[in-house]
Amino acid sequence: MPGLAIVGTQWGDEGKGKITDLLAEDASAIVRFQGGNNAGHTIVRDGEEFKFHLIPSGILHEDKYCVIGNGVVIDPKVLLEEIEGLRKAGISSANLKISANAHLIMPYHILLDTADELKLGKLSIGTTRRGIGPAYADKAFRIGIRVQDLLDEKILRKKIMAALENKRQQLQELTVRRRKLQKEAQPGEELPDERLDLHGLVEEFLGYGHRLEPFITDTTRLCWNELDAGNKVIFEGAQAALLDLDHGTYPFVTSSNPIAGAACVGAGVGPTDITEVWGVVKAYTTRVGSGPFPTELFDDNGAHMAERGVEFGTTTGRPRRCGWLDLVALKYATRLNGATSLAMTKLDVLAGLDTLSVAVRYRSKEGAVLDEFPYHQSVLHSATPEYVELPGFGDEIVDARSEDDLPPAAREYLSFVSDFVGVPITLVGVGPSREQVIWVNV
Ligand code: GDP
Ligand code: IMO
Ligand code: MG
Repeated sequence: MPGLAIVGTQWGDEGKGKITDLLAEDASAIVRFQGGNNAGHTIVRDGEEFKFHLIPSGILHEDKYCVIGNGVVIDPKVLLEEIEGLRKAGISSANLKISANAHLIMPYHILLDTADELKLGKLSIGTTRRGIGPAYADKAFRIGIRVQDLLDEKILRKKIMAALENKRQQLQELTVRRRKLQKEAQPGEELPDERLDLHGLVEEFLGYGHRLEPFITDTTRLCWNELDAGNKVIFEGAQAALLDLDHGTYPFVTSSNPIAGAACVGAGVGPTDITEVWGVVKAYTTRVGSGPFPTELFDDNGAHMAERGVEFGTTTGRPRRCGWLDLVALKYATRLNGATSLAMTKLDVLAGLDTLSVAVRYRSKEGAVLDEFPYHQSVLHSATPEYVELPGFGDEIVDARSEDDLPPAAREYLSFVSDFVGVPITLVGVGPSREQVIWVNV
């Protein structure tokens, strides 16, 4: 049985949560391998909507291991809230396993994330302000706090002290800026507490450690054991290829690597352990936050997508920018990931549009034809897309359950996309619920 990676191929929010929940059916473990609570993964089951930020999207299958791998950055407060939310919904988290090597998001990371964004002003990235970037920075700087540190007061105190030492200057600046932060905060947004004294932090985090201890495991070994026993392990990505720190639209990216290759590092398995890679792609494109987006729409078509697709961020509630499907970017993303299958979600949202455009190449400012996704930032920022227009379909498809139920124009759209990128579309989403899917080419 294979290791199977599920990854986003655009700028996030493609519907990875739903696809993970579906494919988890015959898996024994579902493993998140990067990102943190910048992610928001939605599953709709029996009319009930679940939103997960840190907990892997396999948690509704109580007989499977749900693993938060070493590559994830964990805000323990958010994780405990999520566990509590599940308990209230009658869902057990007993099968949750947390890597002892995963790094923690500390209150100062959240504060720094907000302050850094404000400092950047017009150039800000539009981060989720969850402390993701500063937490990964501390990890690379080797002054991060790890899950295992929560279990030893002496070590925890020493490590927090070292981390604070390095931030004293920044934190002092922050205190001065606090009034400004408060003024610029979005309505209802709660700024993190600025009282970052060592004693308070140690006490707070020891408390989290106490509550999380039953879940802490050697998750790498757990993955090996499952794979070696011939069981299917799903590696669930957060974010997406174009937000990848190395391969995305830098600097408008997240601070981890969401591509399939990173599952090896973020879970501790080898490349040969992963034999299937599913790229999740929305039938159009959305993006939250700043950065280039060649096929972005500002017209009625974009409004149609935003409205019918309910395009608001799962984590921050911000409106998502919408645009046509970008096949130049999708081809790049599928190759980066070595995708073996595509799951196309939200095809239902396109119903009612007269024509469907898909970008098949870009043109540079100087008029050059760009068939490949440009690596140079300035080229991408000024690239304009060239489209092929495909016929639209007027009929609703939310009740379609097989390829034959789809109008010819919808089928044509699917085959144009899979032919263009050279990867089969195996699953099509026609609505948010778990049963609103069509298996194709199987
Ligand atoms: P993720 O971050 O990739 O897991 O995606 P999100 O959960 O942030 O956003 C996807 C949104 O689309 C969620 O609200 C899902 O319930 C919804 N969704 C997923 N698949 C479909 C689909 O095929 N059709 C429609 N209309 N909605 C879908
Ligand atoms: P899922 O897993 C969409 C975006 C932010 C911002 C940039 C950097 O639900 O698809 P960060 O807080 O990570 O430093 O922000 O990345 N971003 C996402 N956009 N979906 C996500 O996750 C995202 N996670 C981060 O909006 O532009
Ligand atoms: Mg999301």
